[in-house]
Amino acid sequence: MAQGKVVLAYSGGLDTSVCIKWLMEEKDLDVIALIGDVGQERQDLDFVKQKALDSGAVEALVVDMREEFVAEYLSKALFANALYENKYPLVSALSRPVIVKYLVQAAEERGAEYIAHGCTGKGNDQARFEVGIRALNPDIKIIAPLREWDLVTRDQEIAWAEKHGIPVPVTTASPYSIDDNLWGRAIECGIIEDPWEEPPFDIYAMTTNPTEAADEPLYITIGFEAGLPVSIDGKKVSYMDAILQLNERAGAAGFGRIDMIENRLIGVKSHEIYEAPGALALITAHKALEELVLERDTLRYKHQIEQDWASYVYDAKWFSPLREALDGFIASTQGVVCGEVRLKLYKGSCAVVGRKSDLALYDVTLATYGEEDSFDREAAAGFIELFGLPTQVWGRQQRKL
Ligand code: ARG
Repeated sequence: MAQGKVVLAYSGGLDTSVCIKWLMEEKDLDVIALIGDVGQERQDLDFVKQKALDSGAVEALVVDMREEFVAEYLSKALFANALYENKYPLVSALSRPVIVKYLVQAAEERGAEYIAHGCTGKGNDQARFEVGIRALNPDIKIIAPLREWDLVTRDQEIAWAEKHGIPVPVTTASPYSIDDNLWGRAIECGIIEDPWEEPPFDIYAMTTNPTEAADEPLYITIGFEAGLPVSIDGKKVSYMDAILQLNERAGAAGFGRIDMIENRLIGVKSHEIYEAPGALALITAHKALEELVLERDTLRYKHQIEQDWASYVYDAKWFSPLREALDGFIASTQGVVCGEVRLKLYKGSCAVVGRKSDLALYDVTLATYGEEDSFDREAAAGFIELFGLPTQVWGRQQRKL
């Protein structure tokens, strides 16, 4: 009889497979492996489930989290045009809280007093798992085997795995650390650690090399209703379909690659590569529509809130009163975000080439320099006089100095 139970966030990779055996041997725990389906493409999840059992788990659960991930997390991310440090659409950061929710639920249902994850001590994801678990159930104890064990190199880990009968993939292990879901794909490690080296062409899986993409531009029209996509090229789609379709089509046009030096929560700068063709196409279109329909002060204020939202979610604070409050503000702006945006994708670029909305605040009779102009030019003079009065008074005083 083991001493207790632990629910492990399991991915099927070497790290979390070794975690299973390590938790059994070192902590004397029965391991329940939980595999979250957030739309990652690389693996057959039945195979992953079997691998967990082969590695020693007493139970392995595959949970399809995609609908909830889209409805609860990716919709808020799109409303917030969320880009951490103006670039990263929070691919991994958004998936952690939904996984955490199911880890805690599984632990409560099965009477497990521990939750374990396979994150390293250097990344953001350890914080996202642990802060999230504490927010949802502070009584659950957390184990992070990778921070505790002394398997420092990959070779040591493989040797430990082989000694303990854990299936090690025969394919030559990739030097990269990859995390992917519906919202995109994150690639780290290997040669990418040298920020002077151009990232190798073979690291990408969702995007075509822009130089090899089609020679003709691709036009895509996205229809929005209350801030979410509802049609593509006139055909009705669910939000999830829109993400999947745009991942395909924008990715094939070579759009969606991000190369950045990122500031991690734990204080380290890292060189990161992402692919997020669908997310970036949707955010580009969504922003363009907001420019058309949101009133000036609201739009400006929202831009500030968006930065805060992205930093907060990046920094492991999904489950927090501030994130909820910010979402309250953001949600209140989305009712008018209805209309259509036309994108032109060409060899890695994505330009907005058209936008329209029945709720547009753009009024051509006010904007035009042509015949149908209804703007009162004379009112401008008095407005500017009073608007500039404080600087005029200040300027007069300055001249005395
Ligand atoms: N740096 C990104 C983040 O913190 C991506 C992390 C992805 N994890 C991975 N195992 N590659 O959100």
